[in-house]
Amino acid sequence: MAEAFNETVLPTGKAERYAAVAEEIAAVLEGEPNLTARMATVASMLAASFDHYFWTGFYVVDPDKADELVVGPYQGTLGCLRIPFGRGVCGTAAATRTTQVVDDVHAFPGHIACDSRSASEIVAPVFDRAGDLIAVFDVDSERRAAFDGTDRAWLEKILKATFG
Ligand code: SME
Repeated sequence: MAEAFNETVLPTGKAERYAAVAEEIAAVLEGEPNLTARMATVASMLAASFDHYFWTGFYVVDPDKADELVVGPYQGTLGCLRIPFGRGVCGTAAATRTTQVVDDVHAFPGHIACDSRSASEIVAPVFDRAGDLIAVFDVDSERRAAFDGTDRAWLEKILKATFG
């Protein structure tokens, strides 16, 4: 994807582009309290902004089941519906509450292959204002080692600003 959303022309540098998208997300979501609307907007705007994003979305902590994630708003091919805490990259991010950056998903123990085209991924935990884990945000790429410290820093910042 990675065409600019609407009429906005985004900067070409990665950090600069994240900064611009972060501002756009905040502007679009101002005054909107609904969690699904907020997650859908974050997934849509980020997926539309970066060429290295292949699958982009949320796995939400299931309020009815202990330690299980269920798929939330996403952009991309069909995702797995449920992931137990501790399984794969998403489950590890949820269990450890820390961002996982994986250069080669095929080398990650227990990786869940929803789409065999995924080669690398980043998964960041999402916390609410009280500091409780509410979801993880998962981005997969068809390229190996597509995510670096810039992606990590900006995704953590955007998620904190949007859900914290
Ligand atoms: N790759 C993830 C599973 C979710 S999908 O890729 C959409 C994982 O191992 O956590």
